[in-house]
Amino acid sequence: MGLMKSINIKTQNESYDVIIERGLLARVGELLSARLKSRRALLVCDDVTESLYAGIVASSLKKSGFDVATFAFPHGEASKTWSTAGSILEAATGANLARSDFFISLGGGVCGDLTGFAAAVYLRGLPFVQIPTTLLAAVDASVGGKTGVDLGTGKNLAGAFHQPSCVLFDPDVIKSLPATQIDEGKAEIIKHAVLAGGRLYQLCASGSLLDDIEEVAALNVAIKRDYVVADPCDTGCRQLLNFGHTIGHAIEKCSRYTISHGQAVAMGMVAETKTFIKLYNEKSEILRIIKSLLEKNSIKFDIPYTAQELTQAALHDKKISYGNLNIIAPLGIGNCQLRRLPVSRLGEYIEGGL
Ligand SMILES: NC(=O)c1ccc[n+]([C@@H]2O[C@H](COP(=O)([O-])OP(=O)(O)OC[C@H]3O[C@@H](n4cnc5c(N)ncnc54)[C@H](O)[C@@H]3O)[C@@H](O)[C@H]2O)c1
Ligand SMILES: [Zn+2]
Repeated sequence: MGLMKSINIKTQNESYDVIIERGLLARVGELLSARLKSRRALLVCDDVTESLYAGIVASSLKKSGFDVATFAFPHGEASKTWSTAGSILEAATGANLARSDFFISLGGGVCGDLTGFAAAVYLRGLPFVQIPTTLLAAVDASVGGKTGVDLGTGKNLAGAFHQPSCVLFDPDVIKSLPATQIDEGKAEIIKHAVLAGGRLYQLCASGSLLDDIEEVAALNVAIKRDYVVADPCDTGCRQLLNFGHTIGHAIEKCSRYTISHGQAVAMGMVAETKTFIKLYNEKSEILRIIKSLLEKNSIKFDIPYTAQELTQAALHDKKISYGNLNIIAPLGIGNCQLRRLPVSRLGEYIEGGL
């Protein structure tokens, strides 16, 4: 068993730890009995994480005296709905969860968002624990307290801010992930590296991102924490985490979600950098650096859509509010700023990125 890494996150009213340790799944019971008073929980997973990891987690919980029921839903983004959230709530009543009890998410970002949302509304709010099992969930989705579901009209359109009571990440779970799912995580890691620079940037630049997943996860959690703590409700600097996402979301939409989020964010980062340099007449090496970060990590970034197609799609994005568009200005590695652009210039903004 490796060394335990622990990162503390303090938001306005809450404080929680992200614990990273190889082999941790077998110690979930022990780790939670020290942190939560209740001994009753609903363990939520998808069918894949249920068959891979629910057994080891549930038996560890039972060994530590927890009364645990399990609920599994079919894997995939298509399950991130009101209907699945409703089924989780019904399962919670079936398991007699009371005010003092808690939820556990064992899975990727879909499971975490759903479980966190159910926990936020069940009996008007119960604690929940995140056990991320994808690289993306470990480095991004499990931290920050955004929870929610998709609506027929768009992704993540309903939800709540609800911080977890703790996040437990076992890097060994990454071994069972398919390569395409690893790339999902890599794109957000490279985004964090551009925003924060430092050691994570060096690791991305050397292409050895996955040599030490514990270290990479810890660096990412610390970077995301700094934004979340500074701006828990996403009204200011946390929006820097949307780098690559304005154009990225438009690409996902245009592809009818056949281009994955991570792929689209990689394309979006390159396009948003290119257009920023054009619009603001910057002379900067940053575009070349970002492209080389992606190339080093074998992530493609050519966009297969026209500016018109992307602009149509982007106009429906929830992050575009009234008169102005928040765009990210990548001035350099570790040096990004928010700028405002009138929505009337959206077409020009997107065209400059292609
Ligand atoms: N709340 C946030 O701040 C935040 C941030 C980023 C993304 N998200 C959300 O996260 C979701 C994407 O997360 P994701 O990429 O983890 O998707 P996911 O949860 O659907 O997991 C991807 C696939 O991997 C499988 N899987 C999970 N763990 C596995 C393992 N260890 N081995 C093998 N297979 C495994 C799952 O069954 C699923 O089929 C999106 O809905 C997105 O909106 C939320
Ligand atoms: Zn993202």
